[in-house]
Amino acid sequence: MASPIPDALIPDVQAEADYAAMAAPGHRKALGQFFTPPRLAALMADWVAGVEPRVILDPAMGAGVLTRAALARCPDARVVAYECDPAILRAADAGGAQVRHEDFLRAGWDDYDAVVMNPPYIRHRELRDHGDLRAAIGQRAGYAIPKSANLYVDFVVKAACQLRRGGRGAFLIPGEWMGANFARGFKQFLLGPGGLQQVVLFSQGHVFDDALTTASVLLVERP
Ligand SMILES: C[S@@+](CC[C@H](N)C(=O)[O-])C[C@H]1O[C@@H](n2cnc3c(N)ncnc32)[C@H](O)[C@@H]1O
Repeated sequence: MASPIPDALIPDVQAEADYAAMAAPGHRKALGQFFTPPRLAALMADWVAGVEPRVILDPAMGAGVLTRAALARCPDARVVAYECDPAILRAADAGGAQVRHEDFLRAGWDDYDAVVMNPPYIRHRELRDHGDLRAAIGQRAGYAIPKSANLYVDFVVKAACQLRRGGRGAFLIPGEWMGANFARGFKQFLLGPGGLQQVVLFSQGHVFDDALTTASVLLVERP
């Protein structure tokens, strides 16, 4: 089937391949470093392009595939990209984005017209000293994120709250949230302030070659 996205808008993934070849698997796993496939990155960028964003946020840039897809699709936009790991930043290709070497969850709450995001997936049992930060994000969002939630929930909640009214986000996260024990409150958040419009669900193995997880893309538009 022909792709609806022109090839010119599908990002090159040389930076991701180079980083994957040299990084220790344990380091990647600890930071949740799994990359968005380029065609999916282009489709996510296409969703947010619908609101003609001037400023786009990528809260967890990695080697930059989503940032580059957003810049290719929205060449007049400015992209602000956060990444906490200096090792991946050295290998990244940010395509001209404004890169912030910072922890996104501890950063400020500026508004954006759009967000493209594939956040780290880290189970609550592996999170250390995260309770206060989670509580602060939950308080700001008006949704108490439960202890059992995966780290990606914090990213979705904060990023959704940083969308201006009418702004759009495309978030790639595992599909497990639909049946997880924290699902109920998370669904209420998504259907309320989160602005969820559509969910695209992929079976295991369809998105990530190197991660045993189902995947879903949340397409949101802030009410
Ligand atoms: C799932 S990867 C996604 C990378 C890239 N956006 C993509 O789509 O291929 C998540 C990235 O977030 C980074 N990260 C983890 N925790 C972070 C934090 N608190 N703030 C900013 N970046 C973080 C990891 O180092 C990793 O590169």
